[in-house]
Amino acid sequence: AANKQSTWAAYAPYFIDGVKTTLIISATAIFFGLILGVALALMRLSGVKVIDWLAQAYIEIVRGTPLMVQVLFIYLGFAGIFGWSTMTSGLVAVSLNSGAYIAEIIRGGINSVDKGQAEAARSLGLGYWVTMRKVIFPQSLRSIWPSLGNEFVSLIKESSIVSTIGVAELTFQTRNVSTITFNGIIPLIISMAIYFILTFTLTKLLNVYERRMNEKYN
Ligand code: ARG
Repeated sequence: AANKQSTWAAYAPYFIDGVKTTLIISATAIFFGLILGVALALMRLSGVKVIDWLAQAYIEIVRGTPLMVQVLFIYLGFAGIFGWSTMTSGLVAVSLNSGAYIAEIIRGGINSVDKGQAEAARSLGLGYWVTMRKVIFPQSLRSIWPSLGNEFVSLIKESSIVSTIGVAELTFQTRNVSTITFNGIIPLIISMAIYFILTFTLTKLLNVYERRMNEKYN
């Protein structure tokens, strides 16, 4: 009992471990989510109805169902078949989820570029895909970049959901510390402080970056 109050620092390794796993999940999901998101956005732009429809269906289903249910679905439905660990199941679920959100970020970014840009490029004789690659896409990055940053911030918080299948990220480690110390509240306060520092710092950094970008282009 003596070491209960006095040595919260002794539990630092749990929180550090948890933060590491939280960041690994978020970074991995942003990476694979970006690949999937680009693929889905291209499918939507393909002009082929069936392909567009498939991408749209995927995006709507993923965004229209809870991440919690998706995590359970991947874990209970696929982990056994493929021999996935809880961590792999979590990574797959969060990546598949983020891909749908990122697809919409990319679509929004492309839509945010003034129509006149495409019209001008086309009237100069550039083809559709050259216009996309050389004119529209570079300009769309201006709104895509900050939104991707926001998605990363969301994932830091939302990845806490994989604690339900036993992935030892920050929320899971927080509960571990609660169990060990018989203290329900202090570990949660520590955990909230850590989440807040992570998201607040990142958001501030993103705002600085965004302001620089706007100064450069306006
Ligand atoms: N909490 C929301 C849900 O369960 C969002 C999850 C994912 N969010 C995200 N930006 N990838 O549906």
